[in-house]
Amino acid sequence: MTDFNTHPLHALFMTAALRVATTLGVVLALGGFIAAQDPPSEETMNYFKANCASCHTIGGGRLTGPDLKGADTRKDRDWLISFVADPKTMIDSGDAYARKLVEEARGALMPNVPGMNKTLAAKLVDLIKAESVLEKSHFMGVVLSDRPLTAVDVAQGKALFTGLAPFKAGAPACNSCHTVRALEGFGGGRLGPDLTSAFARLEGRKALGAWLSAPPSIVMQPVFKQHTLESDEILSLVAFLKSEAEGGDAPMVAEPSLDFVLAGLGAAALLIVLMDFAWRRRYRAVRRPLVAKDSNS
Ligand code: HEC
Ligand code: HEC
Repeated sequence: MTDFNTHPLHALFMTAALRVATTLGVVLALGGFIAAQDPPSEETMNYFKANCASCHTIGGGRLTGPDLKGADTRKDRDWLISFVADPKTMIDSGDAYARKLVEEARGALMPNVPGMNKTLAAKLVDLIKAESVLEKSHFMGVVLSDRPLTAVDVAQGKALFTGLAPFKAGAPACNSCHTVRALEGFGGGRLGPDLTSAFARLEGRKALGAWLSAPPSIVMQPVFKQHTLESDEILSLVAFLKSEAEGGDAPMVAEPSLDFVLAGLGAAALLIVLMDFAWRRRYRAVRRPLVAKDSNS
């Protein structure tokens, strides 16, 4: 009886087996590689942009919330999913890491995002991980120039705010819903809050810029998602709101209200002349005979 091990067929068999195994291995490894590279769905990307990007960049620095680049290396996946799904409960539980995050955010709290659940949170955490390894993530935040803001920027911002200058993508003027101190008397819309101190409230140039690039406001989001503001427009608006917050821009009341008064006086004068003209006969018809009678007697 021949030993199989020494049989010439054995070598042939082993080579074939090895080939199959290697091919299988390569295919599996490749499959795994492809799965790991699986890009986050567009839906998840859009969700992040609409609901998270106003407070977080991935690789663009801190806004209201921490830069999320490498968040997956700071804390494990399960923790991050639980936190994103329900930050309030995690913070209230006294979790040490969550408390440290709150401290670093100077007390700002991550809100519970409506419609959030664990499945979605998991997708978002995977997105953060995938974007973190990119040299330039899709969520670097709006890149605003660091140059000093000038009076020209402020004037341009005011023009955009009031609709004197149109937004390139066709967004509505801010004063259709907002007012600021500079527009006092003139007014502006009342649907949104007075933005005089928005610059300070939204923590300055970078954070306000990020806020405006993807407004997380229920009212503004649907409008500005379709008519995204460009970064130079955002810079001008930031310059204008900064000057508002610093009380730099004198209220516009004086000039225009003087115009209004003059226009009002003009209109009144014209009206008096017209009335006088229309009723000139009245004087003659009623008054004159009386006057005449008076002077007669
Ligand atoms: C209003 C601002 C705000 C929004 C919107 C927001 N976050 Fe946060 N986020 C924070 C703050 C602030 C912290 C730090 C913890 C705290 O203070 O509550 C934080 C912390 C985190 C952390 C932990 C970061 C770390 O370094 O471990 C993750 C992850 C996170 N947020 C993901 C998200 C995701 C995903 C969304 C969108 C669904 C989102 N956040 C929306 C403000 C926000
Ligand atoms: C269709 C109405 C509308 C338009 C147009 C609009 N906003 Fe708003 N905005 C709102 C509302 C309403 C809020 C309050 C948040 C909410 O309830 O959604 C708000 C909130 C804000 C806030 C946050 C204020 C705060 O203190 O939290 C800022 C900043 C802001 N808007 C800036 C702007 C700028 C700049 C423009 C012009 C590019 C603009 N908005 C155009 C309706 C509008």
